[in-house]
Amino acid sequence: MLNKSNIPKHIAIIMDGNGRWAKKKGLPRIMGHRQGIERVKEIVGACKGLGIDTLTLYAFSVENWKRPRPEVNTLMRLLEQFVKRELNSLIKNDVRIKVIGRIDELPENITRLLKETEFITKDNKSLMLNLALNYGGRIEIVDAVKAILKDVLKGSLNATDIDEEVFSSYLYTAGIPDPDLLIRTSGEMRISNFLLWQISYSEIYFTHKYWPDFRRKDLEDAIGEYIKRERRFGGI
Ligand code: FPP
Repeated sequence: MLNKSNIPKHIAIIMDGNGRWAKKKGLPRIMGHRQGIERVKEIVGACKGLGIDTLTLYAFSVENWKRPRPEVNTLMRLLEQFVKRELNSLIKNDVRIKVIGRIDELPENITRLLKETEFITKDNKSLMLNLALNYGGRIEIVDAVKAILKDVLKGSLNATDIDEEVFSSYLYTAGIPDPDLLIRTSGEMRISNFLLWQISYSEIYFTHKYWPDFRRKDLEDAIGEYIKRERRFGGI
């Protein structure tokens, strides 16, 4: 039985396999991404319904710029459409949107839209939806180190006071508890530069389903598997 006391508070998902899903069906890759958006909507609704506090979705990595220009443009357009079309529903459902990643390097209209959306939804409490966009786990750590150095040089932070908690507070995810469960779809068994610091003790769940085939029931299966695991955090 899934209930509030045993479900993960924070779920992170590497949504993978849109391209292969489309190829298998003889469709252009963009159709995989379109179908992927449908699953984003379904899984956001499911998380809200289950009482999950935080959902973090890996939507665009710093490495994804290497993709052909038309595909990058399509992903940006889909993201823009998603945010614009879903805003009212997100507000109605009390969902807070936060972007993690180098947001200022995205196309200017997208950066503006995302910042506005973060502002409009900042007081919503039912579900926190983190979109990892232009995100890389290593660059996040490098950015944190730079910000820490700046504060140390300025004198507002003492080098001897730096510990794990202080370091975490300089990450894009400052103030957000670490993921309890990390899900990756499509059968690949890699972390792909996602939340390197934050997933130290996360349970990891891999499924062969491509992201466009990942339904509410699959999320429930992943949570069911999570509940069965015994988390020891290095203890016995
Ligand atoms: C992986 O499939 C998916 C992505 C790189 C992007 C995921 C993006 C979306 C579902 C749409 C935008 C997201 C939001 C939150 C609005 P792939 O293209 O790597 O598939 P492949 O590995 O089969 O080629």
